[in-house]
Amino acid sequence: MRTPTSKAFTPLAIGPLKLRNRFIKAATNEGMCKGGIISKGLAKFHENIAIGGAAMTTVAYCATSKDGQTFVDQAHLSSHTTQDFKVLTDAVHKHGCAAQAQITHAGAFTFLPKDFSSMTPISANGGFNKFGVMTGRYRKKKMTRSDMDAIANEFVQAALHAKEAGFDAVEIHMGHGYLLAQFITPFYNNRNDDYGGTIQKRMAFPAEVLSKVLDAVGKDMAVNVKYSQTDGKAGGNGIAEGIEIAKILQSTGAHMAQLSNGLNVESISAMFGNPLPASSAKPKNLIIRLGMMMQPKSKDPEREFSQLYSLELAKQIRAAVNMPLCYLGGAKDMDSIETLMAEGFDAIGMGRALIFNPHYIKALQNGSTAHNGCTACNQCVTMMYTAGGTSCIDPNGARGHAAELNITPASAV
Ligand SMILES: Cc1cc2nc3c(=O)[nH]c(=O)nc-3n(C[C@H](O)[C@H](O)[C@H](O)COP(=O)(O)O)c2cc1C
Ligand code: SF4
Repeated sequence: MRTPTSKAFTPLAIGPLKLRNRFIKAATNEGMCKGGIISKGLAKFHENIAIGGAAMTTVAYCATSKDGQTFVDQAHLSSHTTQDFKVLTDAVHKHGCAAQAQITHAGAFTFLPKDFSSMTPISANGGFNKFGVMTGRYRKKKMTRSDMDAIANEFVQAALHAKEAGFDAVEIHMGHGYLLAQFITPFYNNRNDDYGGTIQKRMAFPAEVLSKVLDAVGKDMAVNVKYSQTDGKAGGNGIAEGIEIAKILQSTGAHMAQLSNGLNVESISAMFGNPLPASSAKPKNLIIRLGMMMQPKSKDPEREFSQLYSLELAKQIRAAVNMPLCYLGGAKDMDSIETLMAEGFDAIGMGRALIFNPHYIKALQNGSTAHNGCTACNQCVTMMYTAGGTSCIDPNGARGHAAELNITPASAV
């Protein structure tokens, strides 16, 4: 064992929150919320991350309302889930780790069964809704100013519920194609009012949400944002817009930005650094299976996985703002971590590496120089919303939790 000397193991302040080191478990849509109930399995998943040495774990995704969910077996922050979420946050805190709730509204990107929620989902634009073809939600509603007030208030209420449930931070999801991203990306926003047109106008509503959440909880909790540096596809936001977004987040007062990339449907390989698995994966969830069928079938030579695949983009954001930034994308060994520290990033987000081995940070801290082992096969993505929840299915990786843990409410004795 050796004493770790890397800056990555030193404490970090994000707004009012002090983290024990720089490693943040990124959001990985764990599922494990059958019928919306926060299960023992979900609490155990995050407790494992805490035991494994990360400074903060992110619970994903926590919808701001029923209408904000993408799938039915998903958590939403409300008085009904506070007690079970509190069991989760207590379990995480016991091991010196902080807990962050990723707060999200799906907008038109929703696949809920009929009659579960509104049949006309809201978005930046109105008109035909390509995500609603399977569920009869053929049309989406262009948000009015009063819809915006209501949704901004939903985010505030979700953050207040997160605080009550013991979370130390919220991460407002502005990336990947969910509601706030539907304002930011030109693929889903052709408005010609104060909320469409330039990137500054497309950011007006997401920045307003951030500002209101900061006003409500920002003194007590870290208020972070995750967003896509680029849309990863021609015709969408490029890095110039990604830089403008960072400047707006900074001037609005976000405590930290986590730098993701791409959109769920249009450019998922930009998010993961490589495509989803092709024919071998058969996710049980029909929607996810269809989503995967829409992805490229063959390997895109432009997108062969490489470590730190987002670094060149993220460096441009780093050069443009002073606010705390969390790098995300393909960090899987100590060399990459040292590179990120040397490039001036404040924190390191890890998704798949910590699904593969939740105890990897502790191993590094104990002097291991081993590569994490995750092969970036992306099969864990196909496990979302299976009974066992999101887990690594590589024979060398951590296994999922027993299915029965995943349906028992976290607070059940
Ligand atoms: C199974 C799985 C589920 C994910 N779900 C979410 C999610 O709910 N919210 C989110 O913002 N990102 C989600 N992501 C994306 C990750 O946060 C991260 O951006 C991506 O995995 C790249 O980081 P990595 O190379 O460290 O894995 C998910 C990733 C995986 C592998
Ligand atoms: S299934 Fe396991 S090895 Fe494959 S990408 Fe996910 S965590 Fe990595």
